[in-house]
Amino acid sequence: MVTAALPYANNDLHLGHVTSTYIPADAYSRFRRLKGDDILFVCGSDIHGTPIEVSALAKERTPAEHADYYRSRQVEDFKRLDVAFDNFYYTGGEENRILTEEFLNAAYEKNYIYLREVEQWYCDKDKRFLPDRFVKGVCPFCGALDQYSDVCESCGRVIEADRIIRPHCILCGSAPIKKKARHFFFKLSALSKDLSDWLSKSDDRDFPKGVVHYVLNWIQGGLADWDITREDYWGFKLPFKEAAPNQYAYVWWDAPIGYIASTVNICQKRGLDWEHYWKNYDSKIVHFIGKDIIYHHLLFWPAMLAVAGYPLPKKYSVNGYLTLESKKMSKSRNWQISLRYILDRYPSDYIRFYLASKAANSISDSDFSWKEFQGRINTGLADTVGNLANRVLRFICDTFKGEVPEPEVNLRIKEDKDFKEFVSKLPSDFEELYNLVNLTRVVGKIVDSFGDGNKYFNVKEPWKRIKAGKEGEASSRTTLYLTVNFIHDAAIYMYPITPNLSTQLLNQIFGSDSKLHLSWDATGKFQVKPGTRVGKPKPLVEKISDDEIKKDIDALEKETVQ
Ligand code: MSP
Ligand code: ZN
Repeated sequence: MVTAALPYANNDLHLGHVTSTYIPADAYSRFRRLKGDDILFVCGSDIHGTPIEVSALAKERTPAEHADYYRSRQVEDFKRLDVAFDNFYYTGGEENRILTEEFLNAAYEKNYIYLREVEQWYCDKDKRFLPDRFVKGVCPFCGALDQYSDVCESCGRVIEADRIIRPHCILCGSAPIKKKARHFFFKLSALSKDLSDWLSKSDDRDFPKGVVHYVLNWIQGGLADWDITREDYWGFKLPFKEAAPNQYAYVWWDAPIGYIASTVNICQKRGLDWEHYWKNYDSKIVHFIGKDIIYHHLLFWPAMLAVAGYPLPKKYSVNGYLTLESKKMSKSRNWQISLRYILDRYPSDYIRFYLASKAANSISDSDFSWKEFQGRINTGLADTVGNLANRVLRFICDTFKGEVPEPEVNLRIKEDKDFKEFVSKLPSDFEELYNLVNLTRVVGKIVDSFGDGNKYFNVKEPWKRIKAGKEGEASSRTTLYLTVNFIHDAAIYMYPITPNLSTQLLNQIFGSDSKLHLSWDATGKFQVKPGTRVGKPKPLVEKISDDEIKKDIDALEKETVQ
Protein backbone atom coordinates (compact mmCIF):
# COMPACT_ATOMS: atom_id res chain seq x y z
CA MET A 1 0.00 0.00 0.00
CA VAL A 2 1.88 3.04 -1.23
CA THR A 3 0.71 6.57 -0.49
CA ALA A 4 2.04 9.99 -1.46
CA ALA A 5 1.14 13.05 0.67
CA LEU A 6 -2.12 14.61 -0.48
CA PRO A 7 -1.37 17.99 -2.06
CA TYR A 8 -3.44 20.95 -0.88
CA ALA A 9 -5.96 21.94 -3.52
CA ASN A 10 -5.13 25.62 -3.37
CA ASN A 11 -2.13 25.79 -5.66
CA ASP A 12 -0.48 24.33 -8.70
CA LEU A 13 2.19 21.74 -8.02
CA HIS A 14 5.77 22.99 -8.02
CA LEU A 15 9.15 21.31 -8.38
CA GLY A 16 9.56 20.96 -4.61
CA HIS A 17 6.42 18.86 -4.26
CA VAL A 18 7.34 16.47 -7.03
CA THR A 19 10.98 16.10 -5.98
CA SER A 20 10.35 15.32 -2.33
CA THR A 21 7.22 13.27 -2.66
CA TYR A 22 5.66 12.30 -5.99
CA ILE A 23 8.64 11.22 -8.11
CA PRO A 24 10.05 9.05 -5.30
CA ALA A 25 6.63 7.48 -4.65
CA ASP A 26 6.03 6.81 -8.34
CA ALA A 27 9.51 5.39 -8.93
CA TYR A 28 9.21 3.12 -5.90
CA SER A 29 5.75 1.88 -6.94
CA ARG A 30 6.91 1.22 -10.48
CA PHE A 31 9.91 -0.68 -9.13
CA ARG A 32 7.79 -2.85 -6.83
CA ARG A 33 5.37 -3.53 -9.69
CA LEU A 34 8.31 -4.66 -11.85
CA LYS A 35 9.19 -7.01 -9.02
CA GLY A 36 5.69 -8.45 -9.30
CA ASP A 37 4.23 -7.10 -6.06
CA ASP A 38 0.53 -6.54 -5.51
CA ILE A 39 0.68 -2.75 -5.29
CA LEU A 40 -1.90 -0.05 -4.81
CA PHE A 41 -0.56 3.47 -5.15
CA VAL A 42 -2.98 6.17 -4.07
CA CYS A 43 -3.13 9.89 -3.58
CA GLY A 44 -5.67 12.70 -3.89
CA SER A 45 -6.23 16.37 -3.19
CA ASP A 46 -6.39 17.62 0.37
CA ILE A 47 -9.31 20.01 0.14
CA HIS A 48 -10.16 21.04 3.70
CA GLY A 49 -8.90 23.67 6.13
CA THR A 50 -8.17 27.36 6.15
CA PRO A 51 -5.43 27.30 3.47
CA ILE A 52 -8.08 26.32 0.92
CA GLU A 53 -10.78 28.56 2.39
CA VAL A 54 -8.59 31.65 2.51
CA SER A 55 -7.23 31.16 -0.99
CA ALA A 56 -10.79 30.55 -2.29
CA LEU A 57 -11.92 33.80 -0.69
CA ALA A 58 -9.24 35.72 -2.56
CA LYS A 59 -10.47 34.26 -5.86
CA GLU A 60 -14.14 34.77 -4.95
CA ARG A 61 -14.92 31.08 -5.27
CA THR A 62 -16.48 28.72 -2.76
CA PRO A 63 -13.91 26.42 -1.14
CA ALA A 64 -15.44 23.45 -2.96
CA GLU A 65 -15.22 25.16 -6.36
CA HIS A 66 -11.70 26.29 -5.64
CA ALA A 67 -10.62 22.79 -4.61
CA ASP A 68 -12.23 21.29 -7.73
CA TYR A 69 -10.38 23.76 -9.90
CA TYR A 70 -6.96 22.87 -8.47
CA ARG A 71 -7.72 19.21 -8.17
CA SER A 72 -8.34 18.90 -11.89
CA ARG A 73 -5.14 20.81 -12.60
CA GLN A 74 -3.23 18.48 -10.29
CA VAL A 75 -4.69 15.48 -12.14
CA GLU A 76 -3.50 16.95 -15.45
CA ASP A 77 -0.03 17.76 -14.16
CA PHE A 78 0.51 14.34 -12.61
CA LYS A 79 -0.62 12.69 -15.82
CA ARG A 80 1.82 14.72 -17.88
CA LEU A 81 4.63 13.82 -15.47
CA ASP A 82 3.65 10.13 -15.86
CA VAL A 83 2.93 9.65 -12.18
CA ALA A 84 0.95 6.42 -12.36
CA PHE A 85 -1.41 6.53 -9.37
CA ASP A 86 -3.95 3.76 -9.12
CA ASN A 87 -6.24 6.48 -7.83
CA PHE A 88 -6.05 10.23 -7.38
CA TYR A 89 -9.07 11.02 -5.25
CA TYR A 90 -9.83 13.80 -2.76
CA THR A 91 -10.59 14.20 0.93
CA GLY A 92 -14.08 15.61 0.37
CA GLY A 93 -15.73 12.34 -0.71
CA GLU A 94 -18.35 10.38 1.14
CA GLU A 95 -15.86 7.56 1.76
CA ASN A 96 -13.68 9.96 3.69
CA ARG A 97 -16.55 11.48 5.65
CA ILE A 98 -17.66 8.04 6.83
CA LEU A 99 -14.13 6.91 7.73
CA THR A 100 -13.39 10.20 9.48
CA GLU A 101 -16.43 9.71 11.70
CA GLU A 102 -15.41 6.10 12.37
CA PHE A 103 -11.96 7.19 13.50
CA LEU A 104 -13.41 9.95 15.67
CA ASN A 105 -15.98 7.65 17.24
CA ALA A 106 -13.42 4.92 17.89
CA ALA A 107 -11.12 7.36 19.68
CA TYR A 108 -14.03 8.84 21.61
CA GLU A 109 -15.33 5.47 22.76
CA LYS A 110 -11.88 4.45 23.94
CA ASN A 111 -11.57 7.69 25.91
CA TYR A 112 -8.84 9.13 23.75
CA ILE A 113 -10.87 12.26 23.17
CA TYR A 114 -11.78 14.76 25.87
CA LEU A 115 -13.17 18.28 26.13
CA ARG A 116 -11.15 21.25 27.29
CA GLU A 117 -11.96 24.94 27.38
CA VAL A 118 -9.71 27.13 25.26
CA GLU A 119 -9.61 30.75 24.11
CA GLN A 120 -10.03 31.34 20.40
CA TRP A 121 -9.81 34.40 18.20
CA TYR A 122 -13.26 35.74 17.41
CA CYS A 123 -14.33 38.62 15.18
CA ASP A 124 -17.14 40.57 16.75
CA LYS A 125 -17.92 42.32 13.51
CA ASP A 126 -18.13 39.17 11.35
CA LYS A 127 -19.67 37.25 14.26
CA ARG A 128 -17.44 34.26 13.70
CA PHE A 129 -14.45 32.44 15.10
CA LEU A 130 -11.22 32.94 13.21
CA PRO A 131 -9.31 29.66 12.88
CA ASP A 132 -5.58 29.62 11.99
CA ARG A 133 -5.07 31.68 8.87
CA PHE A 134 -8.07 33.94 9.38
CA VAL A 135 -5.89 36.00 11.68
CA LYS A 136 -2.82 37.86 10.54
CA GLY A 137 -0.36 40.00 12.43
CA VAL A 138 3.28 40.61 13.24
CA CYS A 139 5.54 37.63 13.80
CA PRO A 140 6.59 37.46 17.48
CA PHE A 141 9.96 35.98 16.50
CA CYS A 142 11.27 38.05 13.63
CA GLY A 143 8.92 41.02 13.45
CA ALA A 144 7.80 40.32 9.87
CA LEU A 145 4.53 42.11 9.04
CA ASP A 146 1.39 40.52 7.68
CA GLN A 147 2.00 36.93 8.78
CA TYR A 148 -0.63 34.26 9.40
CA SER A 149 -1.22 33.61 13.08
CA ASP A 150 -0.03 29.99 12.84
CA VAL A 151 3.18 30.24 10.85
CA CYS A 152 5.63 32.92 9.77
CA GLU A 153 6.59 32.65 6.11
CA SER A 154 9.53 34.92 6.69
CA CYS A 155 11.39 33.04 9.44
CA GLY A 156 9.56 29.73 9.01
CA ARG A 157 8.60 29.32 12.65
CA VAL A 158 5.32 27.88 13.90
CA ILE A 159 3.46 30.45 15.98
CA GLU A 160 1.08 29.52 18.77
CA ALA A 161 -2.26 31.12 18.07
CA ASP A 162 -2.27 33.68 20.89
CA ARG A 163 1.31 34.92 20.41
CA ILE A 164 0.81 36.82 17.18
CA ILE A 165 1.35 40.58 17.64
CA ARG A 166 -1.26 43.19 16.57
CA PRO A 167 -3.68 40.55 15.27
CA HIS A 168 -6.34 41.46 12.74
CA CYS A 169 -9.19 39.63 11.06
CA ILE A 170 -8.42 38.95 7.39
CA LEU A 171 -12.07 39.46 6.49
CA CYS A 172 -12.67 42.94 7.87
CA GLY A 173 -9.33 44.08 9.25
CA SER A 174 -10.57 44.72 12.77
CA ALA A 175 -8.82 43.43 15.86
CA PRO A 176 -10.26 40.12 17.00
CA ILE A 177 -11.22 39.38 20.57
CA LYS A 178 -10.64 36.24 22.62
CA LYS A 179 -13.65 34.06 23.15
CA LYS A 180 -14.00 30.85 25.14
CA ALA A 181 -14.89 27.61 23.36
CA ARG A 182 -14.96 23.95 24.35
CA HIS A 183 -12.61 21.97 22.17
CA PHE A 184 -12.13 18.27 21.62
CA PHE A 185 -8.57 17.13 22.29
CA PHE A 186 -6.93 13.90 21.23
CA LYS A 187 -4.86 12.34 24.04
CA LEU A 188 -1.62 12.02 22.15
CA SER A 189 0.36 12.19 25.41
CA ALA A 190 -1.18 8.90 26.57
CA LEU A 191 0.31 7.17 23.54
CA SER A 192 3.89 8.39 24.08
CA LYS A 193 5.18 5.02 25.18
CA ASP A 194 3.43 3.04 22.43
CA LEU A 195 4.73 5.43 19.83
CA SER A 196 8.30 5.34 21.04
CA ASP A 197 8.21 1.52 21.24
CA TRP A 198 6.92 1.35 17.71
CA LEU A 199 9.57 3.77 16.47
CA SER A 200 12.46 2.04 18.23
CA LYS A 201 11.58 -1.49 17.18
CA SER A 202 12.98 -2.13 13.77
CA ASP A 203 12.38 -5.80 13.00
CA ASP A 204 9.98 -5.56 10.08
CA ARG A 205 10.05 -1.77 9.69
CA ASP A 206 12.04 0.46 7.56
CA PHE A 207 12.16 4.05 8.79
CA PRO A 208 14.87 6.57 7.93
CA LYS A 209 17.18 6.59 10.95
CA GLY A 210 17.60 10.35 11.14
CA VAL A 211 13.86 10.83 11.16
CA VAL A 212 13.31 8.30 13.95
CA HIS A 213 15.91 10.04 16.05
CA TYR A 214 14.15 13.36 15.52
CA VAL A 215 10.73 12.02 16.46
CA LEU A 216 11.99 10.16 19.53
CA ASN A 217 13.42 13.45 20.74
CA TRP A 218 10.05 15.11 20.36
CA ILE A 219 8.46 12.33 22.39
CA GLN A 220 11.12 12.63 25.06
CA GLY A 221 10.46 16.36 25.27
CA GLY A 222 6.82 15.51 26.07
CA LEU A 223 3.94 15.31 23.65
CA ALA A 224 1.11 17.80 24.01
CA ASP A 225 -2.44 16.63 23.45
CA TRP A 226 -3.81 17.58 20.09
CA ASP A 227 -6.61 20.09 19.54
CA ILE A 228 -8.68 18.56 16.73
CA THR A 229 -11.52 21.11 16.81
CA ARG A 230 -12.10 24.20 14.68
CA GLU A 231 -15.06 26.58 14.67
CA ASP A 232 -16.61 28.09 11.54
CA TYR A 233 -14.42 25.95 9.38
CA TRP A 234 -14.24 24.26 6.00
CA GLY A 235 -14.22 20.57 6.87
CA PHE A 236 -16.22 17.65 8.26
CA LYS A 237 -18.66 18.15 11.15
CA LEU A 238 -17.76 16.58 14.46
CA PRO A 239 -20.10 13.62 15.13
CA PHE A 240 -20.13 14.09 18.94
CA LYS A 241 -23.31 14.99 20.79
CA GLU A 242 -21.47 17.63 22.86
CA ALA A 243 -20.15 19.34 19.74
CA ALA A 244 -21.52 22.79 18.90
CA PRO A 245 -23.17 23.08 15.49
CA ASN A 246 -20.30 25.22 14.17
CA GLN A 247 -17.56 22.80 15.24
CA TYR A 248 -15.58 20.80 12.70
CA ALA A 249 -12.67 18.36 12.58
CA TYR A 250 -9.26 19.94 12.03
CA VAL A 251 -7.99 19.23 8.51
CA TRP A 252 -5.07 17.10 9.74
CA TRP A 253 -7.57 14.66 11.24
CA ASP A 254 -9.32 13.82 7.99
CA ALA A 255 -6.38 14.35 5.60
CA PRO A 256 -4.42 11.12 6.22
CA ILE A 257 -7.67 9.17 6.45
CA GLY A 258 -7.98 10.34 2.85
CA TYR A 259 -5.35 7.71 1.95
CA ILE A 260 -7.78 5.02 3.05
CA ALA A 261 -10.73 6.77 1.39
CA SER A 262 -8.84 6.88 -1.90
CA THR A 263 -8.18 3.14 -1.54
CA VAL A 264 -11.84 2.39 -0.74
CA ASN A 265 -12.90 4.39 -3.76
CA ILE A 266 -10.68 2.51 -6.21
CA CYS A 267 -11.31 -0.89 -4.64
CA GLN A 268 -15.05 -0.44 -5.09
CA LYS A 269 -14.49 0.32 -8.77
CA ARG A 270 -12.18 -2.65 -9.28
CA GLY A 271 -14.07 -5.14 -7.14
CA LEU A 272 -11.20 -5.40 -4.65
CA ASP A 273 -11.27 -5.52 -0.87
CA TRP A 274 -9.75 -2.37 0.65
CA GLU A 275 -9.22 -4.11 3.97
CA HIS A 276 -6.73 -6.41 2.26
CA TYR A 277 -4.48 -3.32 2.03
CA TRP A 278 -5.27 -1.47 5.25
CA LYS A 279 -6.51 -3.97 7.80
CA ASN A 280 -4.22 -6.85 7.00
CA TYR A 281 -1.10 -7.27 9.12
CA ASP A 282 0.71 -8.83 6.17
CA SER A 283 0.16 -5.76 4.07
CA LYS A 284 2.98 -3.23 3.98
CA ILE A 285 1.94 0.40 4.27
CA VAL A 286 4.52 2.80 2.81
CA HIS A 287 4.21 6.58 3.09
CA PHE A 288 6.03 9.18 0.99
CA ILE A 289 6.24 12.64 2.53
CA GLY A 290 8.30 15.81 2.77
CA LYS A 291 10.12 16.72 5.98
CA ASP A 292 7.61 19.39 7.07
CA ILE A 293 4.93 16.79 7.76
CA ILE A 294 6.95 14.28 9.78
CA TYR A 295 5.09 15.17 12.98
CA HIS A 296 1.75 14.44 11.34
CA HIS A 297 2.82 11.14 9.79
CA LEU A 298 4.99 9.65 12.52
CA LEU A 299 3.02 10.80 15.56
CA PHE A 300 -0.58 11.89 14.88
CA TRP A 301 -1.31 9.36 12.17
CA PRO A 302 0.06 6.17 13.76
CA ALA A 303 -1.67 7.23 16.99
CA MET A 304 -4.98 7.54 15.12
CA LEU A 305 -4.46 4.19 13.40
CA ALA A 306 -3.55 2.43 16.65
CA VAL A 307 -6.58 3.78 18.49
CA ALA A 308 -8.88 2.79 15.61
CA GLY A 309 -7.39 -0.73 15.57
CA TYR A 310 -5.48 -0.59 12.29
CA PRO A 311 -2.00 -1.95 11.52
CA LEU A 312 0.71 0.73 11.59
CA PRO A 313 2.83 1.90 8.65
CA LYS A 314 5.95 -0.12 7.90
CA LYS A 315 8.00 2.16 5.74
CA TYR A 316 8.53 5.86 5.20
CA SER A 317 10.41 7.84 2.64
CA VAL A 318 11.07 11.41 3.74
CA ASN A 319 12.81 14.09 1.72
CA GLY A 320 13.93 17.59 2.53
CA TYR A 321 13.11 20.75 0.68
CA LEU A 322 14.22 21.79 -2.76
CA THR A 323 15.89 25.17 -3.08
CA LEU A 324 16.01 27.05 -6.39
CA GLU A 325 19.40 28.25 -7.60
CA SER A 326 20.52 28.01 -3.94
CA LYS A 327 17.70 30.22 -2.67
CA LYS A 328 14.68 29.19 -0.64
CA MET A 329 11.51 28.87 -2.71
CA SER A 330 8.93 31.48 -1.93
CA LYS A 331 5.46 32.07 -3.21
CA SER A 332 5.29 35.69 -2.11
CA ARG A 333 8.63 36.53 -3.74
CA ASN A 334 7.62 34.48 -6.79
CA TRP A 335 10.77 32.39 -6.53
CA GLN A 336 9.12 29.19 -7.74
CA ILE A 337 8.92 26.97 -10.78
CA SER A 338 5.61 25.29 -11.38
CA LEU A 339 5.45 21.78 -12.70
CA ARG A 340 3.33 23.15 -15.57
CA TYR A 341 6.06 25.49 -16.63
CA ILE A 342 8.74 22.83 -16.91
CA LEU A 343 6.36 20.29 -18.50
CA ASP A 344 5.63 22.81 -21.24
CA ARG A 345 9.36 23.07 -21.90
CA TYR A 346 10.84 19.58 -21.54
CA PRO A 347 9.89 15.89 -21.83
CA SER A 348 8.68 14.35 -18.61
CA ASP A 349 11.59 11.87 -18.53
CA TYR A 350 14.16 14.71 -18.47
CA ILE A 351 12.39 16.27 -15.51
CA ARG A 352 12.03 12.96 -13.69
CA PHE A 353 15.65 12.01 -14.35
CA TYR A 354 17.05 15.25 -12.98
CA LEU A 355 14.67 15.64 -10.05
CA ALA A 356 15.05 11.99 -9.04
CA SER A 357 18.77 12.70 -8.62
CA LYS A 358 17.73 15.15 -5.86
CA ALA A 359 15.77 12.60 -3.82
CA ALA A 360 17.98 10.53 -1.53
CA ASN A 361 15.35 9.68 1.11
CA SER A 362 17.07 12.15 3.37
CA ILE A 363 15.91 15.26 5.17
CA SER A 364 18.76 17.41 3.95
CA ASP A 365 17.70 19.96 1.38
CA SER A 366 18.82 19.81 -2.23
CA ASP A 367 19.13 22.39 -4.94
CA PHE A 368 17.61 22.83 -8.38
CA SER A 369 19.65 24.72 -10.93
CA TRP A 370 18.84 25.21 -14.62
CA LYS A 371 22.49 24.92 -15.66
CA GLU A 372 22.90 21.70 -13.73
CA PHE A 373 19.68 20.37 -15.26
CA GLN A 374 21.06 21.08 -18.72
CA GLY A 375 24.38 19.44 -17.83
CA ARG A 376 22.83 16.28 -16.39
CA ILE A 377 20.63 15.80 -19.43
CA ASN A 378 23.36 16.54 -21.94
CA THR A 379 26.22 14.60 -20.40
CA GLY A 380 24.31 11.97 -18.40
CA LEU A 381 21.27 11.16 -20.45
CA ALA A 382 22.45 12.10 -23.95
CA ASP A 383 26.24 11.53 -24.04
CA THR A 384 26.36 8.53 -21.74
CA VAL A 385 23.03 6.67 -21.79
CA GLY A 386 21.73 7.56 -25.25
CA ASN A 387 25.14 7.36 -26.83
CA LEU A 388 25.93 3.79 -25.82
CA ALA A 389 22.46 2.58 -26.78
CA ASN A 390 22.85 4.20 -30.17
CA ARG A 391 26.36 2.90 -30.81
CA VAL A 392 25.46 -0.67 -29.92
CA LEU A 393 22.27 -0.85 -31.94
CA ARG A 394 23.84 0.91 -34.92
CA PHE A 395 26.73 -1.49 -34.87
CA ILE A 396 24.41 -4.48 -34.85
CA CYS A 397 22.46 -3.00 -37.76
CA ASP A 398 25.49 -2.06 -39.83
CA THR A 399 27.72 -5.04 -39.16
CA PHE A 400 25.49 -7.94 -38.22
CA LYS A 401 22.50 -7.21 -40.52
CA GLY A 402 20.39 -6.20 -37.55
CA GLU A 403 20.69 -9.53 -35.73
CA VAL A 404 22.13 -9.89 -32.25
CA PRO A 405 25.29 -11.97 -32.84
CA GLU A 406 26.27 -15.23 -31.24
CA PRO A 407 28.89 -14.76 -28.47
CA GLU A 408 31.85 -17.04 -27.94
CA VAL A 409 31.05 -20.08 -25.82
CA ASN A 410 34.04 -19.66 -23.54
CA LEU A 411 35.11 -16.13 -22.82
CA ARG A 412 38.87 -15.83 -23.15
CA ILE A 413 39.33 -12.12 -22.74
CA LYS A 414 39.44 -10.58 -19.30
CA GLU A 415 37.36 -7.52 -20.25
CA ASP A 416 34.56 -9.76 -21.51
CA LYS A 417 34.56 -11.89 -18.40
CA ASP A 418 34.56 -8.85 -16.16
CA PHE A 419 31.80 -7.14 -18.06
CA LYS A 420 29.66 -10.25 -18.02
CA GLU A 421 30.05 -10.51 -14.27
CA PHE A 422 29.31 -6.81 -13.88
CA VAL A 423 26.05 -7.19 -15.82
CA SER A 424 25.04 -10.20 -13.73
CA LYS A 425 25.51 -8.32 -10.48
CA LEU A 426 23.49 -5.24 -11.42
CA PRO A 427 19.99 -6.53 -10.55
CA SER A 428 20.80 -6.89 -6.86
CA ASP A 429 22.69 -3.57 -6.76
CA PHE A 430 19.76 -1.65 -8.22
CA GLU A 431 17.25 -3.53 -6.14
CA GLU A 432 19.01 -2.50 -2.97
CA LEU A 433 19.06 1.17 -3.97
CA TYR A 434 15.39 1.18 -4.94
CA ASN A 435 14.44 -0.41 -1.65
CA LEU A 436 16.32 2.38 0.12
CA VAL A 437 14.40 4.83 -2.12
CA ASN A 438 17.74 6.51 -2.64
CA LEU A 439 17.05 7.81 -6.13
CA THR A 440 20.17 9.97 -6.01
CA ARG A 441 22.19 6.79 -5.98
CA VAL A 442 19.95 5.03 -8.50
CA VAL A 443 20.47 7.83 -11.01
CA GLY A 444 24.19 7.92 -10.21
CA LYS A 445 24.45 4.20 -10.76
CA ILE A 446 22.58 4.37 -14.06
CA VAL A 447 25.01 6.96 -15.42
CA ASP A 448 28.06 5.17 -13.98
CA SER A 449 27.11 1.82 -15.39
CA PHE A 450 26.48 3.28 -18.86
CA GLY A 451 29.87 4.93 -18.44
CA ASP A 452 31.36 1.51 -17.73
CA GLY A 453 29.53 0.13 -20.74
CA ASN A 454 31.01 2.84 -22.95
CA LYS A 455 34.46 2.18 -21.56
CA TYR A 456 34.17 -1.55 -22.20
CA PHE A 457 32.98 -0.89 -25.74
CA ASN A 458 35.88 1.51 -26.35
CA VAL A 459 38.49 -0.82 -24.96
CA LYS A 460 37.19 -3.75 -26.98
CA GLU A 461 37.09 -1.71 -30.22
CA PRO A 462 34.76 -4.14 -32.00
CA TRP A 463 34.95 -2.00 -35.16
CA LYS A 464 38.69 -2.87 -35.42
CA ARG A 465 38.62 -6.43 -34.17
CA ILE A 466 35.91 -7.43 -36.58
CA LYS A 467 38.51 -7.11 -39.31
CA ALA A 468 41.20 -8.99 -37.38
CA GLY A 469 40.69 -12.57 -38.38
CA LYS A 470 38.50 -15.27 -36.88
CA GLU A 471 39.32 -14.59 -33.24
CA GLY A 472 38.82 -10.88 -33.64
CA GLU A 473 35.48 -11.45 -35.29
CA ALA A 474 34.38 -13.74 -32.45
CA SER A 475 35.54 -11.21 -29.88
CA SER A 476 33.50 -8.43 -31.46
CA ARG A 477 30.42 -10.65 -31.58
CA THR A 478 30.81 -11.19 -27.86
CA THR A 479 31.12 -7.46 -27.23
CA LEU A 480 27.91 -6.68 -29.06
CA TYR A 481 26.03 -9.54 -27.45
CA LEU A 482 27.09 -8.46 -23.96
CA THR A 483 26.45 -4.74 -24.48
CA VAL A 484 23.03 -5.20 -26.04
CA ASN A 485 22.10 -7.29 -23.04
CA PHE A 486 23.44 -4.62 -20.75
CA ILE A 487 21.36 -1.87 -22.36
CA HIS A 488 18.30 -4.12 -22.27
CA ASP A 489 18.70 -4.61 -18.51
CA ALA A 490 19.58 -0.98 -17.93
CA ALA A 491 16.36 0.06 -19.68
CA ILE A 492 14.51 -1.89 -17.00
CA TYR A 493 16.57 -0.37 -14.16
CA MET A 494 15.75 3.06 -15.55
CA TYR A 495 12.09 2.35 -16.10
CA PRO A 496 10.90 3.53 -12.66
CA ILE A 497 12.61 6.88 -13.32
CA THR A 498 12.33 7.30 -17.09
CA PRO A 499 9.48 5.07 -18.23
CA ASN A 500 9.17 6.58 -21.71
CA LEU A 501 12.84 6.39 -22.62
CA SER A 502 13.02 2.86 -21.30
CA THR A 503 10.06 1.77 -23.35
CA GLN A 504 11.51 3.36 -26.48
CA LEU A 505 14.83 1.71 -25.88
CA LEU A 506 13.31 -1.73 -25.36
CA ASN A 507 11.24 -1.25 -28.49
CA GLN A 508 14.41 -0.44 -30.41
CA ILE A 509 16.16 -3.51 -29.05
CA PHE A 510 13.34 -5.84 -29.97
CA GLY A 511 12.30 -4.02 -33.11
CA SER A 512 8.72 -3.77 -31.88
CA ASP A 513 6.82 -3.69 -28.63
CA SER A 514 5.47 -7.20 -29.02
CA LYS A 515 8.35 -8.77 -27.14
CA LEU A 516 8.47 -6.31 -24.29
CA HIS A 517 8.85 -8.15 -21.02
CA LEU A 518 8.79 -5.45 -18.45
CA SER A 519 9.73 -7.36 -15.38
CA TRP A 520 12.63 -7.33 -12.96
CA ASP A 521 13.01 -11.06 -13.56
CA ALA A 522 14.18 -10.34 -17.08
CA THR A 523 17.36 -8.66 -15.84
CA GLY A 524 20.80 -10.18 -15.31
CA LYS A 525 19.88 -13.19 -17.40
CA PHE A 526 21.06 -12.30 -20.90
CA GLN A 527 17.59 -12.49 -22.30
CA VAL A 528 18.36 -10.81 -25.59
CA LYS A 529 19.18 -14.00 -27.43
CA PRO A 530 21.42 -14.31 -30.48
CA GLY A 531 19.33 -13.90 -33.59
CA THR A 532 17.02 -11.27 -32.08
CA ARG A 533 16.25 -8.71 -34.79
CA VAL A 534 16.86 -5.24 -33.42
CA GLY A 535 14.99 -2.20 -34.67
CA LYS A 536 16.42 0.82 -36.42
CA PRO A 537 18.23 2.90 -33.79
CA LYS A 538 16.88 6.39 -33.41
CA PRO A 539 18.47 9.04 -31.20
CA LEU A 540 16.79 8.75 -27.81
CA VAL A 541 17.78 12.00 -26.19
CA GLU A 542 18.05 15.45 -27.70
CA LYS A 543 20.44 17.83 -26.02
CA ILE A 544 19.31 21.08 -24.43
CA SER A 545 20.94 24.10 -26.02
CA ASP A 546 22.39 27.08 -24.16
CA ASP A 547 19.76 29.31 -25.79
CA GLU A 548 16.91 27.22 -24.44
CA ILE A 549 18.27 27.11 -20.91
CA LYS A 550 18.85 30.84 -21.01
CA LYS A 551 15.14 31.34 -21.67
CA ASP A 552 14.38 29.42 -18.48
CA ILE A 553 16.88 31.37 -16.41
CA ASP A 554 15.48 34.64 -17.74
CA ALA A 555 11.90 33.57 -17.06
CA LEU A 556 12.75 32.74 -13.47
CA GLU A 557 14.64 35.99 -12.88
CA LYS A 558 11.95 38.12 -14.50
CA GLU A 559 9.20 36.65 -12.38
CA THR A 560 10.96 37.84 -9.26
CA VAL A 561 11.12 41.48 -10.29
CA GLN A 562 7.87 42.72 -8.90
N1 MSP B 1 -1.90 18.53 2.48
C1 MSP B 1 -0.70 18.27 3.19
C2 MSP B 1 -0.39 16.79 3.21
C3 MSP B 1 -1.50 15.94 3.74
S1 MSP B 1 -1.07 14.26 3.71
C4 MSP B 1 -2.30 13.47 4.51
C5 MSP B 1 0.46 19.01 2.52
N2 MSP B 1 0.25 19.42 1.27
S2 MSP B 1 1.33 20.28 0.42
O1 MSP B 1 0.70 20.52 -0.85
O2 MSP B 1 1.75 21.40 1.16
O3 MSP B 1 2.59 19.37 0.23
C6 MSP B 1 2.56 18.18 -0.55
C7 MSP B 1 3.88 17.42 -0.38
O4 MSP B 1 4.98 18.25 -0.84
C8 MSP B 1 4.22 17.10 1.06
O5 MSP B 1 4.89 15.84 1.10
C9 MSP B 1 5.16 18.19 1.50
O6 MSP B 1 6.03 17.78 2.51
C10 MSP B 1 5.92 18.44 0.21
N3 MSP B 1 6.43 19.81 0.09
C11 MSP B 1 5.75 20.99 0.22
N4 MSP B 1 6.58 22.03 -0.06
C12 MSP B 1 7.81 21.56 -0.40
C13 MSP B 1 9.02 22.13 -0.85
N5 MSP B 1 9.19 23.43 -0.97
N6 MSP B 1 10.05 21.30 -1.17
C14 MSP B 1 9.90 19.94 -1.10
N7 MSP B 1 8.77 19.37 -0.69
C15 MSP B 1 7.74 20.15 -0.24
O7 MSP B 1 1.50 19.12 3.14
ZN1 ZN C 1 -13.55 40.46 10.94
